Amino acid sequence: MPTYLLLIGGPGAGKGTQAQKLREGYGLPQVASGDLFRDNLKRSTPLGQLARQYMDRGELVPDDVTISMIRERLQQPDAANGAVLDGFPRTIPQAMALDGLLAEFGGRVNVVLYIQVQPEVLLARLAGRWICKAPEQHTYHTLFNPPKQPGVCDIDGTELYQRADDTAEVQSRRIKVFFEQTAPLIDYFRERGLMAEIDGEQPIAEVTAAMLAAVEAALHPEAPQA
Ligand code: AP5
Ligand code: MG
Repeated sequence: MPTYLLLIGGPGAGKGTQAQKLREGYGLPQVASGDLFRDNLKRSTPLGQLARQYMDRGELVPDDVTISMIRERLQQPDAANGAVLDGFPRTIPQAMALDGLLAEFGGRVNVVLYIQVQPEVLLARLAGRWICKAPEQHTYHTLFNPPKQPGVCDIDGTELYQRADDTAEVQSRRIKVFFEQTAPLIDYFRERGLMAEIDGEQPIAEVTAAMLAAVEAALHPEAPQA
């Protein structure tokens, strides 16, 4: 049965950072809706053009196009054993659509990891974020996780850049949109017994350890827990 691990958290909570660790730990692809939109934007596809209007304002892209993009992505061969979903779902209709979609693939949501971070900390995270240009998008922070050489990725030597939607105005809007439109998912998944709440204000390695423990508990509930 395929395995689906979901990451929910505000902008800058560390979804991408932690998805990379889960991807490495479980050999599952990272499926990040924001990355898929940015890739479409770079290739100037009609979906990219549409998404840009929303992303530039920090608003959510409409559910129907987002859901069909994820459906297509999860059908790719590399996702046959499941995926780490980073930033999807973000609304109740997206969560309901995902349930139906995963049932078609013979799977279900195994666990939802909610990375809890308060708004002031989210802003500080976004303000210092730099990302590399390799497909893996290794992510740094000027204060919390600096590269050895400023502006250059430690792992692959590519140049680091800041995202177009990381202006102060759009960051604040994204944070507001998260608490208004995505936070209701926390109760949705809690009621279904799928929610693991992770303190996202710990150092990166400690967040990873807490997440791996929560995933293990969800995947192997019969095993004795540490
Ligand atoms: P998306 O790309 O998903 O952006 P986001 O939700 O705003 O989140 P970020 O990617 O900014 O943050 P992150 O949680 O990945 O943090 P990171 O690991 O980089 O979405 C962008 C847009 O696309 C949306 O606004 C919307 O328009 C659209 N969209 C996407 N999905 C959609 C959907 N499902 N429906 C509709 N529209 C959708 O970390 C941030 C920084 O903090 C880094 O510098 C990192 O090094 C640092 N850091 C991480 N963890 C820690 C830690 N524990 N301690 C200290 N520093 C840390
Ligand atoms: Mg991200």
